[in-house]
Amino acid sequence: MSSPHDTIRFVLNDKIVSVDFNSNPELKPTTTVLNYLRSFPFHKGVKEGCAEGDCGACSVVVAENHGGKLTYKTIDSCLVFLPMIHGKQLITVENLADAGKLHPVQQEMVNQNGSQCGYCTPGVVMSLFGLYKNHHNPDREVIEDALTGNLCRCTGYQPIIKAAEHACSCTDTDKFKLHEAKIADLLDEINRDKSTVEISTPYQNYYKPLTLPDALALRRKYPHATLVSGASDTALRQTKKRELLAEILDISDIAELKHFVEEEYNYTIGSGLNLEQVKAHSNEKLPALHKMLQIFGSLQIRNLATLGGNIGSASPIGDTLPLLIAYKAKVKLQSPDSQRLVNLEDFIKGYRLTDIRYDELITAVHIPKLPSDTLVRSYKVSKRKDLDISTVSGGFSLHLEEGHVKEIILAFGGMADQPKRASETEHYLLWKPWTRSNVEHAMKILIHEFTPLSDARAGAEYRKLVAGNLLLKFYTETSTPGL
Ligand SMILES: Cc1cc2nc3c(=O)[nH]c(=O)nc-3n(C[C@H](O)[C@H](O)[C@H](O)COP(=O)(O)OP(=O)(O)OC[C@H]3O[C@@H](n4cnc5c(N)ncnc54)[C@H](O)[C@@H]3O)c2cc1C
Ligand code: FES
Ligand code: FES
Repeated sequence: MSSPHDTIRFVLNDKIVSVDFNSNPELKPTTTVLNYLRSFPFHKGVKEGCAEGDCGACSVVVAENHGGKLTYKTIDSCLVFLPMIHGKQLITVENLADAGKLHPVQQEMVNQNGSQCGYCTPGVVMSLFGLYKNHHNPDREVIEDALTGNLCRCTGYQPIIKAAEHACSCTDTDKFKLHEAKIADLLDEINRDKSTVEISTPYQNYYKPLTLPDALALRRKYPHATLVSGASDTALRQTKKRELLAEILDISDIAELKHFVEEEYNYTIGSGLNLEQVKAHSNEKLPALHKMLQIFGSLQIRNLATLGGNIGSASPIGDTLPLLIAYKAKVKLQSPDSQRLVNLEDFIKGYRLTDIRYDELITAVHIPKLPSDTLVRSYKVSKRKDLDISTVSGGFSLHLEEGHVKEIILAFGGMADQPKRASETEHYLLWKPWTRSNVEHAMKILIHEFTPLSDARAGAEYRKLVAGNLLLKFYTETSTPGL
């Protein structure tokens, strides 16, 4: 392995900032970007509302260099550990104005009266800035998606949406475009060094490899280290449960884990690709996955969260899991000296339990190209449409031959301690005509097949009813032309 170093570097206010955790004992490697920024008197714009990714008051934008071109994404700074921004530009609301002249997104918030108490405003402005950098004249759906992760309790969203429409139709060149080459050079200077960042403090050890071989070697060396990919699950252990994560292996910046490749028989998705990118790539290729990701968390969450993290967390309500089972996806697991492919269905072993070995990482997911007449759908039922976790979810696939069920997979989330197939229901339907009366009979079997929990989200009876109704919806959609 290359030689370790223990300082992180990123660009803030157009300059490279170095953070050496041993000379700053008030900072931990798991200090969040939110708390780091708020430790300065001149960076109090970023706010804490919830510290769990739900309100967007802490939104900031990070820029990454891709061959001289910067890409911008809005993230929740309350979920990001400081070393995760190593090698990136961190942009905060204080950084937007240009020599006293407001950025177009700020000016339009003023023009459209987009702020009242102002608590949410810096976060909203950063979401608008992310939108401005990624879209010109976005439609209403894109604007609403960019604002899903920002809660405002007083202004109402109409003035904010108007501000977005006006700012994003502006053709002026902002200072970020003018300074792009200079910032790209600064980021290049930092990222040239691919040696692992190793931060050792009296209570925590934080490892941030920058290549896959280094990541695999560290995984074997520190098998008990907490893995961090997007941190959208892991950060809550610190911010909400107040756990001290003593040993962390941060794999958020491994280029080899961030691919989406179409092969002859498969799509291969790198475990470290964030879900917003997975959503973009899957648009026409894997429409059911695209649809599920449209209602996954918020843009800020999807810009962090990875597919590997959703699978590795093995939550009974992990939204991609039932669908990946329906797609017959396989998980690629790599150790320093071996690799294997495991059916996702077999990989999930129980409540937040997987078949991963102590020295393995999930490196990719293989989704086979199913025959073109296979019908695949995903469904999510939650208390509200946006930024909510599932009460019940479903990933279904169906292959018919002359109107009869040749193959069917009905996988559910929220119905058991892990995402699970309704095997008895599938068995009943196999080789039967795909008719409403057969599906209605199957719904009765389905209701007895699971014993879901009653919890704060829903009662067991409600969950069973929803599961049955999702099957009926699947039938309706797959038997009604045009649906
Ligand atoms: C506000 C909010 C909204 C959310 N909304 C949704 C939602 O709508 N649907 C949903 O399903 N989830 C949701 N989540 C949960 C979370 O965002 C997802 O589970 C996400 O996919 C986790 O990915 P990550 O990369 O952030 O995981 P991390 O937090 O980085 O990792 C979680 C765990 O996964 C495992 N892991 C990660 N990468 C690997 C790897 N390469 N190899 C082996 N193991 C690995 C490790 O055990 C790790 O500790 C939400 C979370 C928040 C905070
Ligand atoms: S503080 Fe609410 S999303 Fe970060
Ligand atoms: S302006 Fe008060 S919360 Fe949005």
